[in-house]
Amino acid sequence: MMDVTDRHCRYFLRLLSPSALLYTEMITARAIVRGDRESLLGFDAAEHPVALQLGGHDPVELAEAARIGEGFGYDEINLNVGCPSDRVREGRFGACLMLEPDVVAAAVGAIRSAVRIPVTVKSRIGVDDREGFDFLSSFVERVSAAGCRVFVVHARTAILSGLSPHENRTVPPLRYAVVTELKRSRPDLTVVLNGGITTEEAVEGALRSVDGVMVGRKIVDDPCFLATLEQRFVNPSATLPDRTAVVYRMYEYASRLAARGGRVHHVTRPMLGLYRGQRAARSWRRFLSERVCQPDASPRLLLESLRIVEQVTETE
Ligand SMILES: Cc1cc2nc3c(=O)[nH]c(=O)nc-3n(C[C@H](O)[C@H](O)[C@H](O)COP(=O)(O)O)c2cc1C
Repeated sequence: MMDVTDRHCRYFLRLLSPSALLYTEMITARAIVRGDRESLLGFDAAEHPVALQLGGHDPVELAEAARIGEGFGYDEINLNVGCPSDRVREGRFGACLMLEPDVVAAAVGAIRSAVRIPVTVKSRIGVDDREGFDFLSSFVERVSAAGCRVFVVHARTAILSGLSPHENRTVPPLRYAVVTELKRSRPDLTVVLNGGITTEEAVEGALRSVDGVMVGRKIVDDPCFLATLEQRFVNPSATLPDRTAVVYRMYEYASRLAARGGRVHHVTRPMLGLYRGQRAARSWRRFLSERVCQPDASPRLLLESLRIVEQVTETE
C-alpha cells in the first residue's frame, strides 16, 4: 500500500505475524531501473517473506526491475493491475491494463523469463463497464496462459473516470461471488480474495471458497488483527505477541535507524494503531503523533510512550 507498507511498516508487522506474506508499496519499474535502488528496494532480512509489487507496462522495463528486485532478495514479484489513480492511468499501468490482457500477459512472460521467484498479479474484478465473471475470467485465462499461477483480486470494479482512488475503494460494491466463481472455474490457480475483510469470521468464510485473503486497511487501523489471524489460521499454538515487547523491539529498530540518519516518525507511523481496542489506545496514539513532531524527537520517545500506557492501565 502506497505510503503505508514501507520497510519500517513491514518490519513492525513482521513482529506481529511471523508468516503473513507482506507486500511493498507499488513501485514503478522505471523508478527501479533508473532511480536510487537502495532507497527504493532496501529492506531488512527480518521482513521475509516479502513480495515486491511493480507498476508498469513495458515488458523489458518490468523484467529488468524484477531482476533487480530478485537480486535484492524479494520472495515474489507482483504486478499491479488494480490501481485506478489518474496518474497511474496516464502512465498506462495499474487497473487500465486489465483492458489490455495481451500487454499484461507479455509483461508476465517477460518477468517470468527474468526471475526464478513466483510472479503474481493483483487486479480488480473489472474496469468501468467491462466487469463481472466473464470479463475477469477471460483476463485470467489470457494472463495465466503466460504462466501466472496466483491472482490476488480486489473484489470491486475500478471506475477510471469520476472516482478518486479513495472512492474506488468504497463506492463500487464488493462482489466476492465473482472471485469465488473464478476459483471454482479455475481450481488449478491460486486465488486470493481482497477487499473489505475486517473480521476473523470473514476470513474464515472466504477461506472456504478461495485459497487466501489479503487484508489492507484493517491492518493499518488495527495491526494486531494480523497477529490474531496468524494464531487462528496458521499457528493455533502461537501466543499473541506482547505489545510492550513489540515496542521495545521497535525502539531497538528505531535506534539503529537513527544511527544511520533515519527519522523516528517513519518508525512510529505504522505503530499508531498498536493499542487499538485497548484502554490506552487514544492516549498512546496522541502521545506518539504529538511527540514525534517535536524537533528533539528521538527513539526514546517509544520508551516514554510505554509509561503513558502504564499510567492509563494503572488508573483502571
Ligand atoms: C493508502 C492506500 C494505499 C494503497 N496502495 C496500494 C498499492 O500500492 N498497491 C495495491 O495493489 N493496492 C493498494 N491499495 C489497495 C489495497 O491494497 C486494497 O486492495 C484495498 O484497500 C482493498 O482492501 P482492504 O479493504 O482490505 O483495504 C492501497 C490502499 C490504500 C488505502
